[in-house]
Amino acid sequence: MRGDAIELVVRSRTGLARSVVEFELAAPDGSRLPEGTPGAHIDLVLPSGRIRQYSLYPGADPGAWYIAVLRETGGRGGSSELHDEVVPGTRLRALGPRNRFPLHPADDLLFIAGGIGITPLLPMIGEAERRGTRWRLAYGGRSRASMAFLPQLARYGARVTTVPQDEDGPLDLDALFGALPAGALVYCCGPEGLLEAVRQRCRELPPGTLHTERFSAAPEAGPGPDEEAADAAFDVVLARSGRTVRVPAGAPVLQAVREAGVQVLVSCEQGTCGTCETGVLQGVPEHRDSLLTEEERAAGDLMLICVSRSLTPRLVLDL
Ligand code: FES
Repeated sequence: MRGDAIELVVRSRTGLARSVVEFELAAPDGSRLPEGTPGAHIDLVLPSGRIRQYSLYPGADPGAWYIAVLRETGGRGGSSELHDEVVPGTRLRALGPRNRFPLHPADDLLFIAGGIGITPLLPMIGEAERRGTRWRLAYGGRSRASMAFLPQLARYGARVTTVPQDEDGPLDLDALFGALPAGALVYCCGPEGLLEAVRQRCRELPPGTLHTERFSAAPEAGPGPDEEAADAAFDVVLARSGRTVRVPAGAPVLQAVREAGVQVLVSCEQGTCGTCETGVLQGVPEHRDSLLTEEERAAGDLMLICVSRSLTPRLVLDL
């Protein structure tokens, strides 16, 4: 398991919008929880053992954590469990905070949120304010009633454009990108359709312009192009115990590690959440996730073992 889990108690739950509930999480002994940098999230371990990722945003108590959970119909059950079973007093655990969506310095920032994707952008807006950075937010949702945080955002006036789809249609990305100042950075969080539309708009912009956060598999996730690697078995050395396990052709590292009885913390098992992130001490991973950046892939010292394999006959992992 990566790091020690933090014990939590649910201090309150508050309805923020239709199907969106805020949970205030605190340390049971009242001590201050570690602060996340803007864009950070936690891996929350639910009473059932499910693990889900939620972005943190600031609330009334700076020593507590605040998460907003949308009930997802047809989801994998994590959001329903939180909505239906988690009440003030419920004990939970979490790992983190971790930040895979950090805010970089820029003269201009364009924030684009779809639905509950607004949550990681809230602390970024606060940080942009503190830094004196020019910023704009375009926030789309199904309807005004389903869009959380509208009262908090109203104080920013014309810098925030709220676009309830049932009143105004979808976000006008052409207008947003048409007015984008040179050198601006774009931060987008929302459903895959919105992310893909924003990615298309950013194709012609300088590399590093677009930063996205998603918690579901990207369309390009899946087996990589190296079919030879997919066909070959390889060895994984678990450095902490010195054991070696054989990973069969076509299987991810996780499968073999689990069969060897080694406990690894996982959540999505699709290479999208980062919960299974593991240090690579020797060998070259074949990355099949949709989360690591190009730089992280090139560095080769991390891999998401739930989906990834090896390009070398032997991998030594920090497990
Ligand atoms: Fe989510 Fe591996 S468990 S990336």
